Amino acid sequence: MISIKDIKEKDLDLCYELDSNTISLWSKKQWSKEFKKKGIKVFGLLLSNLLVGICVFHVVLDEAQINFFVINQKFRKKGFGSYLMSYLIKQCEKLNINKLFLEVSQTNTTAEKFYSSFDFSTVGIRKNYYKDGSDALLKEKKLTTK
Ligand SMILES: CC(C)(COP(=O)(O)OP(=O)(O)OC[C@H]1O[C@@H](n2cnc3c(N)ncnc32)[C@H](O)[C@@H]1OP(=O)(O)O)[C@@H](O)C(=O)NCCC(=O)NCCS
Repeated sequence: MISIKDIKEKDLDLCYELDSNTISLWSKKQWSKEFKKKGIKVFGLLLSNLLVGICVFHVVLDEAQINFFVINQKFRKKGFGSYLMSYLIKQCEKLNINKLFLEVSQTNTTAEKFYSSFDFSTVGIRKNYYKDGSDALLKEKKLTTK
């Protein structure tokens, strides 16, 4: 059974483990800092009791940013990423968020296709942004709020 739950700092080790096994973005210290930021929500996608995906979502007034979005390698291409993204978009609508942003490496064609399928468009480029020297594309999705 699929479910989505709020993850709190006490479960930081689970986040760090999934991060280390996938994109290796943050150290434990960085995860801890992330949890402490104002407006941060961390959502976990669970399959029964197994954590298969994580998203870090940062709300600032009427805008939000996705700081981290990963599905466990073994569970990709099965619709779980879309499930988590659809949930996030619903959260944005509930919170009257007008724009949702994220950064993605220009070399990450899988993620590019994934985000394009949710109508994110490129609104900027951050040169030499990642450790490997690749550029980041700044993507935006406009949301219609009620
Ligand atoms: C990007 C990511 C979250 C997608 O998750 P997922 O669960 O595999 O995605 P879904 O199964 O819901 O796929 C949805 C759509 O995304 C696109 N997509 C996903 N994986 C793809 C791939 N390997 N190649 C091409 N398109 C792909 C397709 O359009 C797909 O729709 P389709 O299945 O009808 O073709 C996952 O690949 C991932 O965790 N990647 C590593 C982390 C990352 O790059 N995060 C984003 C930057 S922070």
